Amino acid sequence: MTQTEERKAIQDTPLVPIEKIVSLCKRRGFVYPNSEIYGGVAGIYDFGPLGVELRNNIRRYWWWSMVQLNDNVVGIEGANITHPRVWEASGHVENFVDRLVECKNCKRRFRIDQLPVENLEQHKCPVCGGELTSEPRVFNLLMETYLGVVEGERMKTYLRGEACQNIYLDYDNVLKSSRMQIPFGICQIGKAFRNEVTPGNFLFRQREFEQWDLQFFVHPSEMQKWFDYWKQYRFEWYRGIINHTDRLRFREHGPDELAHYARQAFDIEYQTVLGWQEWEGIHWRQDWDLSRHSLFSGQDLNYTDPVTKERYIPWIVETSGGVDRTFLNLLLDAYEEQPDPMGKGNDRTVLHLHPWLAPVKVAVLPLQKNKEELVTTAKDIYRKLQRLMVAQYDDIQNIGRRYRRQDEIGTPYCVTVDFQTLDDQTVTVRERDEMTQVRVPISELPAYLLERVTWK
Ligand code: GAP
Repeated sequence: MTQTEERKAIQDTPLVPIEKIVSLCKRRGFVYPNSEIYGGVAGIYDFGPLGVELRNNIRRYWWWSMVQLNDNVVGIEGANITHPRVWEASGHVENFVDRLVECKNCKRRFRIDQLPVENLEQHKCPVCGGELTSEPRVFNLLMETYLGVVEGERMKTYLRGEACQNIYLDYDNVLKSSRMQIPFGICQIGKAFRNEVTPGNFLFRQREFEQWDLQFFVHPSEMQKWFDYWKQYRFEWYRGIINHTDRLRFREHGPDELAHYARQAFDIEYQTVLGWQEWEGIHWRQDWDLSRHSLFSGQDLNYTDPVTKERYIPWIVETSGGVDRTFLNLLLDAYEEQPDPMGKGNDRTVLHLHPWLAPVKVAVLPLQKNKEELVTTAKDIYRKLQRLMVAQYDDIQNIGRRYRRQDEIGTPYCVTVDFQTLDDQTVTVRERDEMTQVRVPISELPAYLLERVTWK
């Protein structure tokens, strides 16, 4: 049984409004609007002290499960800028577009693939009921940039519209330098940039965001097997880090919604107040990418089987998800407001984040801040724990308030140093979800906590 299954899941809490998460993120230092003092930029965000810790944990856990645990997978980190031909070969210059209609009355713009069918058919604005333009306007999502300093000689290129392109560009180098043989995979976590016409819903749809990709290269005859394997692997991965496992499902793309590179696609979807929405895409990319890059670059990207000597362009299974969307979904999944059962106003907000991912693992709290022996012992414990995990020391306000502050940021354990500690060298360890308390000898504390907050 995994640590996840042992945890008591919170299954029955209602869907959380995004505004609650936006407010918590700003107040507690998870996420800030970018360039806020200048009025902000739509669809771009910065991550604060707690946000960085949470993001790093999410990224590291993904990397551990995808690269470290799989013998046939390696990792790379590619640049955000590539040769412009990459985006012609990939099909993005031609196909990476949103089609929009505009309301003649309220001037709002809508992606036609997101409009309810009846609004589309009746040319009726879903917000004000006004008339929609009949001919959609087409916008390419790639962000342009320029290399070079001399006007007229500068080269136009693009910030990468999907991070995975570097993997195809580096495929041959990885093959030659890392002694991999097909079937094998390359992973990457990296930024992607899209001029989204309708950014919104906080981190859900941004213009600068981060993706994690696995591109798994296979013989065509084994495509179905590996597609099924990674599809299930990724589903179980998400299941393992959420509380509301009933809000996770697969949805297969219909032929009219497949991306230009995909022959078949399943989304792993998660249900929030935004409805069922894509969290990660599992794409049957076939030989699209390597064939196109072979054609456009003139380089032979065929693979030669070392045993049979068969030569072929490998087919690709892609699993592509978003770090930011994971960040948002995990907060929506973990957030709970619990009213005080005694009705005395001691309500608490708690983030039931998986202990593996929580930004702060432990808070060390002296029962009173004016008792020198308590403070000295607590600081000593804090200094030792700080070397092993992200820890906080807090002696401001009464112990109840300090517990509440830690609950709100998802800290799974609070260690309280009290008068009994001075007698028997034990501390109280309080667990966040159940609020149970146990006494643990100080000498056993590091092992006790590491066992619970380290993934394995
Ligand atoms: N290489 C395939 C690809 O890019 P995608 O479905 O466009 O596929 C993969 O993106 C994932 O990236 C999505 O499942 C989502 O988690 C994340 N993502 C896509 N666009 C995003 C955006 N504008 N803001 C935040 N995350 C986004």
